[in-house]
Amino acid sequence: MSVQKEVKRVTTRTLHDMKSRGEKIAMLTAYDFSMARLVDAAGVDVILVGDSASNVMAGHETTLPITLDQMIYHASSVIRGTQRALVVVDLPFGSYQGNSKEALTSAIRVMKETGAHAIKLEGGEEVVESVKRILSAGVPVMGHLGLTPQSIYKFGTYVVRAREEEEAQKLIHDAHLLQEAGCFAIVIEKVPATLASRVASELSIPIIGIGAGGGVDGQVLVLHDMLGINTEFKPRFLRSYLNLQEQITGAIGNYVQDVKSKDFPNAGESY
Ligand code: KIV
Repeated sequence: MSVQKEVKRVTTRTLHDMKSRGEKIAMLTAYDFSMARLVDAAGVDVILVGDSASNVMAGHETTLPITLDQMIYHASSVIRGTQRALVVVDLPFGSYQGNSKEALTSAIRVMKETGAHAIKLEGGEEVVESVKRILSAGVPVMGHLGLTPQSIYKFGTYVVRAREEEEAQKLIHDAHLLQEAGCFAIVIEKVPATLASRVASELSIPIIGIGAGGGVDGQVLVLHDMLGINTEFKPRFLRSYLNLQEQITGAIGNYVQDVKSKDFPNAGESY
């Protein structure tokens, strides 16, 4: 008889306790069952089904085109591959900016149709009403400040945000508002390390950074970037842990060669 080891799921409470203990939170994106299974087994605490799926899975230039239905498809695949990680799903562009009722409807669809544990949305003061409404239905919300890719056409560029005092003050203000509204964590993307570190020390909820330095409570990266599947994207904040592009094209090249040379399949690989 095989005894299945019970795996304890990471919860929003776990993340809060990790921050209190000073234990860093490791978060990565995933968009499909097979990768989610690997990410989960490797001990990642939070899996984000990011709308970066629009870029890395669908090949779009921005995150704007991905739809709620497509996010639900990715998220339900990810959920089937995880046992331990807390799974957070991005509400995509156009599914929550209209009003708080629309935001709640989208959040409920994600929770009902995927089995995910929380949603993430971008913005500060302008989305606080939606955050409160989603939370009133019992759905945990993660915020996202700094470089918010759904607003890329407003920014006009992917450069570091909040270098100027006025934008830095707005970010600090927004972070406090999101915490007061009830967000369980906030992602802060591509801002000066001193600013992110200040926000992490002022807030009691975890701050997860991407391009925000080491003074925050955890880190997130896009899986395909850190595994070197997309080697064209090379921002300073990205640490590359593999060159999968080279390894995969090499392996596939060998397969093509074996088929062409009639080496594959051999007798042992035939019935
Ligand atoms: O969509 C995404 O992958 C994200 C991360 C960059 C935080 O929002």
